[in-house]
Amino acid sequence: MKTPVKIAVTGAAGQISYSLLFRLASGELLGPDQPMIFHLLETPQALALGALNGVVMELNDCAYPLLHKIVATDDPEVAFKDVDYAFLIGASPRKPGMERKDLLAINAQIFSVQGQALSKVASRDVKVLVTGNPANTNALIAISNAPDLRPENFSAMMMLDHKRATFQLADKCGVLSNDIKNIIIWGNHSAGQYPDLHHAKVKGQDALSLVEWDWFVDKFIPTVQQRGAVVIQAVGRSSAASAANAALNLMRNWVFGTDEGNWISMAVPSDGSYGIEKDLVYSFPVEIKNGEISIVQGLEISDFSREKMRKSEAELKEEREAVKHLL
Ligand code: NAD
Ligand code: LMR
Repeated sequence: MKTPVKIAVTGAAGQISYSLLFRLASGELLGPDQPMIFHLLETPQALALGALNGVVMELNDCAYPLLHKIVATDDPEVAFKDVDYAFLIGASPRKPGMERKDLLAINAQIFSVQGQALSKVASRDVKVLVTGNPANTNALIAISNAPDLRPENFSAMMMLDHKRATFQLADKCGVLSNDIKNIIIWGNHSAGQYPDLHHAKVKGQDALSLVEWDWFVDKFIPTVQQRGAVVIQAVGRSSAASAANAALNLMRNWVFGTDEGNWISMAVPSDGSYGIEKDLVYSFPVEIKNGEISIVQGLEISDFSREKMRKSEAELKEEREAVKHLL
């Protein structure tokens, strides 16, 4: 029997976590022979109301053989103690009419506290996936507050955008999502992100040779950019099951590596690739091997793409400026 790994999930009584925790416990992340211990973090209010306890009871009632123990707490230093994986989900979601950056004033502080706690007590190899919005800038805050971890320990979630884009292209071309490769989401998890098809393939053919340019510009890009807001309009709350699915899938890629010849989009600290300012948490196409993330190099960037990539970079700089007191 393998030694259990420790997985922290914040916002554990929230709706994304409710779609994530049961899938994690069933072994979907690490396989059927890897036991785990959950460290669930919530606010003192959620603990007092019994909301987290309800989730713990339901997890126990599944009698998952791989779930060896659950620690439920409102103390980040308890939640992150020695953890190998951390899903930072706990944060307020936006409401209809808001942009994700409007959440900075409410959520930013959470990520400075949690960055400090991770730095102090987590495993030095911890993989931290920030989902709480605005995810890129929250990840930047966490990194800045975690001097004893490497920036590479952190990423922000763009996998939902990547999957949204994959579905839109597959649907348009009448193929399955597995037939699509090398989509890129550049930049920020916001309406300013740039979903790029210049390098995408559909069953090995160039995507842009199969779809009209007008569809790409006027339909595909805005649909992917606005999908989160459209879901909120439709159901009155932000995406949950699809977000949990993306978080699980991203972490699996991080642990086991990306498929040969098919990169993923991941917001990581920029190393200056493609002229993007160093250290901004910006989404690039990445490949992962043995847990090491590398930004795909040498892609040709058209003037059209360059302008959109710069715009998203500028938005991230603005967000950074708004939280500079926390960096
Ligand atoms: P939710 O309101 O259902 O759950 C959030 C939970 O976080 C609540 O239970 C709350 O008590 C808890 N929480 C708040 N502050 C906390 C703290 N300091 N420590 C621990 N827990 C805390 O929200 P949700 O729908 O689960 O969404 C969570 C976040 O994820 C939101 O910010 C949302 O915008 C974001 N999100 C991001 C993506 C993405 O692709 N990056 C996708 C969907 C949602
Ligand atoms: C999403 O993309 O669905 C999430 O970021 C939630 C939101 O506010 O759009």
